[in-house]
Amino acid sequence: MRLVAAVALATLVIALACSRPTPVPQVTKPESERSYVEFGRAQIERVQAMGHPGPLQEDPSNRHADDLKAATLGQWLFFDKGLSPSGTVSCATCHRVEHRFTDALAIAQGLARGTRNTPTILDAAHQTWFNWDGRFDSLWSQSHGPLSHPREMGGTFASVVGRVMDNQDLRSQYEAAFGRFPATPLSEPQVEGAMANLGKAIAAYERRLLTGPSTFDRWVERWRDAGSPRHIDLVASEDFSPSAQRGLDTFTSRGNCWQCHEGKLLTDGEFHALGAAPRGDLISDQGRYGAIAPLKSSAFRSSGPHADNPRSERAAVVDSLIAVEDQWGAFRTPPLRNLSATAPYFHQGQFATLEELLHFYSTLEGAVTMDHHRESVLKVRNFSEEELADLASFLRCLDGTDPPAQWLRDPWVGATPP
Ligand code: HEC
Ligand code: HEC
Repeated sequence: MRLVAAVALATLVIALACSRPTPVPQVTKPESERSYVEFGRAQIERVQAMGHPGPLQEDPSNRHADDLKAATLGQWLFFDKGLSPSGTVSCATCHRVEHRFTDALAIAQGLARGTRNTPTILDAAHQTWFNWDGRFDSLWSQSHGPLSHPREMGGTFASVVGRVMDNQDLRSQYEAAFGRFPATPLSEPQVEGAMANLGKAIAAYERRLLTGPSTFDRWVERWRDAGSPRHIDLVASEDFSPSAQRGLDTFTSRGNCWQCHEGKLLTDGEFHALGAAPRGDLISDQGRYGAIAPLKSSAFRSSGPHADNPRSERAAVVDSLIAVEDQWGAFRTPPLRNLSATAPYFHQGQFATLEELLHFYSTLEGAVTMDHHRESVLKVRNFSEEELADLASFLRCLDGTDPPAQWLRDPWVGATPP
């Protein structure tokens, strides 16, 4: 109950943040001189392609993806510290409900300090690649990473499956969704099969963590309904302020943000090397380059033996991947929904605030050229103070509303299992 209240409060703060004028605006031109924006033809198409992402795509590699029993088990697993042998770390330790499924840290802290920033899980199910480097090609295979990583939860496949078999509540839920466990001792392939099922249950849960329309999504719908006019008078419409509307204008034109942050998820789903300098105490990260080999050799890849449809188009894409130098230091373009509560930003939490991040995009100050390559789309833009404030206002209007409260509660707290 208390958790739900905390979440409600967080949402309220977010709603206010979007309508609140940003603190830095040193407006260079009087408001009266910029009372409208005018979209170009290409820009209209860009804006039309944005808006709420709607329902999820099917996941043919997980036939339990939309099964309620699997999702309910997944929720129990997500909040279960027993899945780490030390009994101290669950998924929710880092993906905290009250921080919209992040941890508010620059670098994740599990059993030990990690090397990357914790992304949110809200709306993650819309993605095609998971983790900053796209090391996993499905939501269900992703969870095997943290469960067995020595710095995160520190388990082994055998310890994780053993936990579920030994806990009566988890065991009965597992068997209701996936059928009876084989007789003990389990062979290695049987452990791997059970691990795949646990990942599929967690993914079924994560697929429920979808947010509703943001302030911007509601505006875009009204704009589309009005015939997508190119001339937009800057009058405050609900809480999508004139500043946020100008920010949208910059985002989809001169700011060039749209080149990578496009469409409904505000990402091209691709990998780019922006060159934000690594944090002082961490080595630079290979990014996409280092992810290809482990992905292609994983038993849990979408062309592997545990995928429910290993002959899918997706499986063919994964099989055809090759590591090339361009991918060195490249990271997935993150979706930009839900930014207000998910700072710090970038793969090593390099930027504590949206203002710091926008300063980087404006000046490329401190950018390092990766050993091989840096994105040429990214140029010094020298945004004015007003443009920076407008972009920040726009980004703050992209937070979706919370998923249904039943999926936000920790089922281990004060409840008897079903
Ligand atoms: C120690 C903190 C920590 C724990 C514990 C943890 N995560 Fe994460 N999570 C992270 C970090 C850091 C990343 C990014 C990892 C990377 O890019 O290498 C991440 C990435 C993810 C992603 C990918 C999101 C995206 O948009 O690509 C998902 C999904 C996820 N975690 C789910 C889980 C689940 C499920 C569990 C429990 C089985 C879990 N996490 C446990 C820190 C954690
Ligand atoms: C060349 C492609 C590209 C362009 C152009 C681009 N971005 Fe990004 N954006 C990315 C990538 C890749 C990352 C992740 C970088 C990293 O972690 O090192 C990112 C990260 C971000 C983040 C942080 C999200 C998070 O959860 O950490 C924000 C916010 C953002 N971009 C906004 C913008 C804005 C605003 C613009 C325009 C001024 C822009 N981007 C232009 C590719 C791009």
